[in-house]
Amino acid sequence: MGGDLAGEGGEPVRRAAFPYGDTGPEITAADAQAVAAVVAGRQLWRYGGTKVRELETTFAALYGVGPGQVAACSSGTAAVHLAVAAVDPEPGDEIIVPPITDFGSVIPVLAQNAIPVFADVDPETYCLDPADVARRLSVRTRAIICVHLFGQPAPVVELAALARRRGVALIEDCAQAPLARVGGRLLGTFGDFGCFSMQQSKHFTAGEGGLTLAREPQAAQRMRLFADKGWPREGPVRTHLFLGMNYRLTELQAAVALPQLDRLEGIVGRRQQRAARLDALLAGLAGVAVPPTPEGSRSAYWQYGFNIDPGVLGLDAGGFARLVRAEGVPLASGYVPPLYLTPALAERRTYGGSAYPFTAPGARPQPAFGPGLCPAAETAARRLCHLAWHQNYTDADVDDIGRAVRKVATALAARAAGPA
Ligand SMILES: Cc1ncc(COP(=O)(O)O)c(C=O)c1O
Repeated sequence: MGGDLAGEGGEPVRRAAFPYGDTGPEITAADAQAVAAVVAGRQLWRYGGTKVRELETTFAALYGVGPGQVAACSSGTAAVHLAVAAVDPEPGDEIIVPPITDFGSVIPVLAQNAIPVFADVDPETYCLDPADVARRLSVRTRAIICVHLFGQPAPVVELAALARRRGVALIEDCAQAPLARVGGRLLGTFGDFGCFSMQQSKHFTAGEGGLTLAREPQAAQRMRLFADKGWPREGPVRTHLFLGMNYRLTELQAAVALPQLDRLEGIVGRRQQRAARLDALLAGLAGVAVPPTPEGSRSAYWQYGFNIDPGVLGLDAGGFARLVRAEGVPLASGYVPPLYLTPALAERRTYGGSAYPFTAPGARPQPAFGPGLCPAAETAARRLCHLAWHQNYTDADVDDIGRAVRKVATALAARAAGPA
């Protein structure tokens, strides 16, 4: 068909490689030195060291909670697992989860032998829709896990009210949303638990790592024990109070993460400021809809996401992203398939051939995990485009993103509309 689009033989908007991608943490020489000092001290383990404890207390201070309310652990998945384990579901109990998220939001539910019940999402943000959550609650529901996808706030006020009304826990998965806010209040403090990840691509990182914040001191104590084999170390005898894991973070990981907490506000603030520039460039573009962040709310912008309208552009998100990538901007599409369509869930590949916990005695029969379960989530494959976001994108980087998206959308919309 030929034309200006780089994907069809035209000149790309940008030829220079795009910076950062998924691997752009800001690690300074001082951070490296902090790790070297731990190595030199030869105490790499949290018991006997000071860095993991300091990370927990510093994070607690950042979130305005007591120092005992935060537990460090070895990954974001572990962070969610700490929360689920503290809820302590019976086998076959149910926990509501969103379908569009990292599998790490759902693995802990299965690991504790609870059943993940998928609720549908808002078709603009792909965060949980409280009305659909309400429809999927049952007598077996013990918790709701909400994910602040890409750093955008899920409707936590509504979800917290619903959870309270129905007597279930609210677990906020903030792996992508540190220092994000609703009504000025930090995400992770609306629910009973807030769970954070320090994996490589996140706003602050130790390569791997997690932090969980608990509202109730008792829950915090249970999380701490769960992360350490159920072992109460302060007690006089070596014992194990309940089944737990070894999810301990090392001193090395805490040493590199700790100084990043001082810079986190600046990182999120700059991401927000960079995103506002792109918002302005994409405003009013036919076939492209950027979800607005409500007044008083703040996204942490792990990724910058927007929806395209295939009806207006004549292509789905995959085709659109391909054309934008040809322009030199690494736009992705779809994020993840709805998790219930992946083999682990659709085929119930869990523990041997048992299909446990779906087959737990007394478990309620669940609908098949197949197409149609969460229709709004299933539109992500056709509509959702997203781009790894970074605080150090220059104005020129952001402008190139805006120009590439604008160029492709404008050409496609004109083509789809037909000759004038
Ligand atoms: C929303 C969400 N939840 C949970 C996780 C799991 O975190 P981790 O990869 O650190 O285990 C991630 C990580 O990518 C995530 O994005």
